[in-house]
Amino acid sequence: MKNAINRQMMAGNWKMNSNSEQTREYFEQLIGLLSAGECEVALCVPYPLIPTAKEAVAGTRIRIGAQNCHWEESGAFTGEVSAKMLAEEYGIDLVIVGHSERRQYFGETDETVNGRIKAALAQGLEVIFCVGESLQQREDGVTNDVVGAQLREGLKDITVEQMKKIIVAYEPVWAIGTGKTATPDQAQETIASVRKIVAELYDAEIAAGTLVLYGGSMNGGNVAELLSEADINGGLVGGASLKAEEFAGMITAANEL
Ligand code: PGA
Repeated sequence: MKNAINRQMMAGNWKMNSNSEQTREYFEQLIGLLSAGECEVALCVPYPLIPTAKEAVAGTRIRIGAQNCHWEESGAFTGEVSAKMLAEEYGIDLVIVGHSERRQYFGETDETVNGRIKAALAQGLEVIFCVGESLQQREDGVTNDVVGAQLREGLKDITVEQMKKIIVAYEPVWAIGTGKTATPDQAQETIASVRKIVAELYDAEIAAGTLVLYGGSMNGGNVAELLSEADINGGLVGGASLKAEEFAGMITAANEL
């Protein structure tokens, strides 16, 4: 379903995969298979592949994004890349922040996620802000509390105007890369609660206009039923986005809704 401001998006997250040659082949295939329609399409690729990917999609509606950015513009932060670098060196306008793999393996906290979001916004980037609960948290019945806290902390000091540049991705940690997808009901229920929290933090109009994606083992087989839910405006797709044919099919499914 589209959101209240008529947006829908399928975003791919390649994680730490692919190379230049595969990137060129991928986009040649994807562009050839891309159905006409209003569903926005983005691929968040590893930093070194951004220039190749950008060149490959030039003149199409496909956007290229990054998978993280640092909260400072520059400084002694070995291994990090700033939002300013993404904007100025790569000329991109989209970045994922707060992915559960960053939280799980690289010590990201709600506070660092908040800093990274602010830095990205300061550079004019649109942010795909990821939230989601672990299996234990779902079994304990605290999903909405966990996701609520991630939203409140992650969006701290983000203004109403800035919120218009934030896309929320609800990704249950137990569904990422596991082949276990949340049922459409589970995804819809939590995403409805995401919108409720955004309405509390901002207002009903902002909440209805926020683009909210589902992520976690979304693929060609389950995309249509997930996207037919009222509050799900698209997907953040990992594994299935690495296959141009499958991802193109998912975009077509979104366009047909
Ligand atoms: P998956 O990953 O589709 O491979 O489960 C989703 C994500 O991590 O964004």
